[in-house]
Amino acid sequence: MFNNWKELEESILNCKKCKLCMNRRNIVFGEGNKNADIMFIGEGPGADEDAKGLPFVGKAGQLMNKAFEGIGISREKVYIANVVKCRPPSNRIPQVDEASSCLDYLRNQVILIKPKIIVLLGSTALKNILGKEFAITSARGKWIERKNILYMPTWHPAALLRDEAKKIEFWKDLKLVKEKADFDSLNF
Ligand code: URA
Ligand code: SF4
Repeated sequence: MFNNWKELEESILNCKKCKLCMNRRNIVFGEGNKNADIMFIGEGPGADEDAKGLPFVGKAGQLMNKAFEGIGISREKVYIANVVKCRPPSNRIPQVDEASSCLDYLRNQVILIKPKIIVLLGSTALKNILGKEFAITSARGKWIERKNILYMPTWHPAALLRDEAKKIEFWKDLKLVKEKADFDSLNF
């Protein structure tokens, strides 16, 4: 573990800890406020993210931005990262060895940011962070507390593109986050 951002960021340059290094164009480390009280964790970069080196800049990200705007969450004030930092081929789900190689970086990001709330975007984030016994369908929309961090599992924004009903639930879940953050006067 590194106790500063510079060392952590340097440690990931040219990372070859898993096979996802072979086809990536850019490592998508994460983006946002390093003092954020709210952190969002997705699955892994898609084509647009891989091209730009930034998380959630494609279609799913644009939908997430719209929800943020509507609910009053400012994207610049939160921190956004992914379970894996390099794009899985054809956007497949990260494999167990890939996620476990990459998770040290994410854990280190969480340690440095010290968020009060972590929003888990979809099944991959939920299972890798809280445990594979969790299922997104039953866990979403409910707070889970672990080691002084409140977790809110919700749908992955890409799932909203395929299913309109999930959009409503996603908004509902983010509203819970916003209400809690307002109530606790969080920095976001
Ligand atoms: N999907 C993710 O899980 N993360 C991104 O950064 C973009 C799409
Ligand atoms: Fe390294 Fe993570 Fe990329 Fe794998 S996905 S090569 S562990 S940065």
